[in-house]
Amino acid sequence: MSDITTIWTEKYRPKTFEDLTGQTEIIKKLKAFIEKQNIPHLLFAGPAGIGKSTLALIIARTFFGEHYRENFLELNASDERGIDVVRVKVKDFARTKALGNVPFKIIFLDECDALTKEAQQALRRTMENYTSTCRFVLAANYSSKIIDPIQSRCAVFRFKPLSNEHVEQLITKIATQENLSIGQEAKNALITIAEGDCRRVVNLLQSGAAAGEITPDNVYSLASYAKPTEIKETLNLALAGKFVESRDKLLNIMLTYGLSAVDIIKQIQSTIWQLDISNRKKVQLIDKCGETEFRIVEGSDEFLQLEALLAQFILNE
Ligand SMILES: Nc1ncnc2c1ncn2[C@@H]1O[C@H](COP(=O)(O)OP(=O)(O)O)[C@@H](O)[C@H]1O
Ligand SMILES: [Mg+2]
Repeated sequence: MSDITTIWTEKYRPKTFEDLTGQTEIIKKLKAFIEKQNIPHLLFAGPAGIGKSTLALIIARTFFGEHYRENFLELNASDERGIDVVRVKVKDFARTKALGNVPFKIIFLDECDALTKEAQQALRRTMENYTSTCRFVLAANYSSKIIDPIQSRCAVFRFKPLSNEHVEQLITKIATQENLSIGQEAKNALITIAEGDCRRVVNLLQSGAAAGEITPDNVYSLASYAKPTEIKETLNLALAGKFVESRDKLLNIMLTYGLSAVDIIKQIQSTIWQLDISNRKKVQLIDKCGETEFRIVEGSDEFLQLEALLAQFILNE
């Protein structure tokens, strides 16, 4: 029987560099910093669920050993109370010397790209003030949103979503530990949905286990993700000029999987590449997807926009 009472993203949060799946180049460099006892400020950039926070914690565990809790502070920079609260907390934490035989403490600041430019300037000054006693590890989705003076003070690491092979390794590892029976088709469904996001995979595995069975259908419906084959069939109907059938199928998919128009456009957009049409037509349709999404986000009627998008599949290039 699998354990579904604890939260798996915490249960399976890697505790050592060796536990972590993928990110091998980044790990190699971070280990070198630790061996030399010389860690610069770090900036971790990349999408969600791929190990940024986890690696910050692993650095602290490895570097501080038993004293890691006392010497490590985690804050969310986008906390609605703002940069002033962050500065006060940093000040309190940085005021006292690091515990144990280590030269500095580590402060992990998540979601730094949510800070305004002014707040980032304040953060930069805070970093300067406490450089002798603290190292900062900053995390952001996009490094381009971080002001240059901060970027230039940090060693920048660009995290990539995990490869399909690595995602599969993670699925197999957890499935084995939890005694889950999961076939290759369900694994493939998880890999497709995850797009390299481990947190998503782990959460879906846990919900699947709670639902009793991990089948491809289960996985897609838990993820609110339409089956790729169904989307492809819908688009092929439109290409064949069967507009009404195509539209009805699309509506049906949205209701079955509980998808919003924006969710479905993303899936349509990625399916276009697999259709048997000219590259020119593909590009035109991708362009239309972008336009449709924009209109929907701006508040236009979503069904009207989706129908208009399907109509584009029928029109000749
Ligand atoms: N590289 C990875 N290897 C194994 N599990 C991972 C990895 N990255 C993320 N996870 C899983 O996803 C959860 C969230 O990861 P986290 O490091 O918080 O992501 P983020 O990049 O958003 O900071 C972890 O607790 C763990 O379960
Ligand atoms: Mg994180």
